[in-house]
Amino acid sequence: MNVLVIGSGAREHALVRALSLDPSVDAVHAAPGNPGIAQLARCEPLPGGVTDADAVLDLARRVEAGLVVVGPEAPLVEGVADVLRGAGIPCFGPSSAAARLEGSKSFAKEVMSAADVPTGMAHVCTTDEQVREALDALGAPHVVKDDGLAGGKGVVVTGDRESALEHARGCLARSGGRVVVEEFLDGPEVSLFCVCDGRTVLPLAPAQDFKRVGAGDSGPNTGGMGAYSPLDWAPDGLAADVTERIARPVLEEMARRGTPFVGVLYVGLALTARGPRVIEFNVRFGDPETQVVLDRLRTPLGGLLLAAATGTLAEVPPLRWADEHAVTVVVAADGYPAAPRTGDPVTGLEHAPDASEEAYVLHAGTALDADGRLVSAGGRVLSVVGRGRTLAQARARAYAAVAAVDLPGSHHRPDIAERAERGEVTLPG
Ligand code: AMP
Ligand code: GLY
Repeated sequence: MNVLVIGSGAREHALVRALSLDPSVDAVHAAPGNPGIAQLARCEPLPGGVTDADAVLDLARRVEAGLVVVGPEAPLVEGVADVLRGAGIPCFGPSSAAARLEGSKSFAKEVMSAADVPTGMAHVCTTDEQVREALDALGAPHVVKDDGLAGGKGVVVTGDRESALEHARGCLARSGGRVVVEEFLDGPEVSLFCVCDGRTVLPLAPAQDFKRVGAGDSGPNTGGMGAYSPLDWAPDGLAADVTERIARPVLEEMARRGTPFVGVLYVGLALTARGPRVIEFNVRFGDPETQVVLDRLRTPLGGLLLAAATGTLAEVPPLRWADEHAVTVVVAADGYPAAPRTGDPVTGLEHAPDASEEAYVLHAGTALDADGRLVSAGGRVLSVVGRGRTLAQARARAYAAVAAVDLPGSHHRPDIAERAERGEVTLPG
């Protein structure tokens, strides 16, 4: 089977890496990919971007793809999976209608309410006045979310009412301006990727993401600055519990509506004193959590995603996992997330302990310049993965590899998985 992966980040590099280790996969193609992905897969340009469904379909036919895996949310929301499936090409990723679970936070709330899924109280607002009322009704800390896609940057959590109002005004000012004001959910956050074929749910291993740009969870939200898995502090049976109480009811509700969900239902949770509560749904693999989850998955990925894409997930044997820990640290460009600088040379990758597989560098925002040198081309530039028998060993290996690479002005969080290593992550109540 030939597999085509759509996207160009470290998540897609991790997908390509895992797919290329699957003996049932003959060739991996990626579009548009990046210079790191190009070492494992044939990269194809998509001049119209990843949302150009006709171009993706042409490409899938040309490379004789038996499976297309769509990485980012935008092409899913735009209906790329519908076009592929319509042409008879198995696609791992939801239809445009099902992708609304991520594309619209108010739609996700409506589905959760219909499926009786535990989440925070929320008010959907379209005016300044409604926002004020909602802020007063729910109290501080305030959580204000842009209704639509915002690349992980549409959410503000703040104790300051004025900042909350200001963010809400910005969201309302955009076309179709709608904003969700939500109850603050207190407790450690978990990302759980549930692989779905429309009926059956298979959860992967839980991971934790670090969304804030700075050490100690300071500064603004980003797409994600690092992750680790497994979560030794999480309650036993968490994945099974979330599958039964959240993922399966949502899948049933989506099927009932005639819009079955195929792909990854990414459940973002807060483990509160009252139990797990949904913070958000995404309809794709998370970045950077995918880097650590796939590092540990021993079940061949291509077969698993093909089963989901073709409705045969119930026949897949129990997933196998490496009894190891994985940590990823994102190396971000100068100025990320506000105004990332691009075009800086990325060097030292040959010094990162790649061949040993104890640590390796996945590319995100990288490109080759006119002279063929590797340069930065985005906010999150690299995602460095370390693996070990213990979390401490995995962290040490990841940070040693980070130290080997050089990108002028770059920054990374020094404390990814640090509190977990110290046993300081605790559940409330
Ligand atoms: P989202 O885009 O919905 O994932 O939100 C981004 C981040 O904002 C989450 O990962 C949380 O850290 C934080 N956040 C979102 N909603 C809430 C909430 N209701 N309570 C506490 N923190 C939240
Ligand atoms: N890691 C957060 C996301 O992928 O949205």
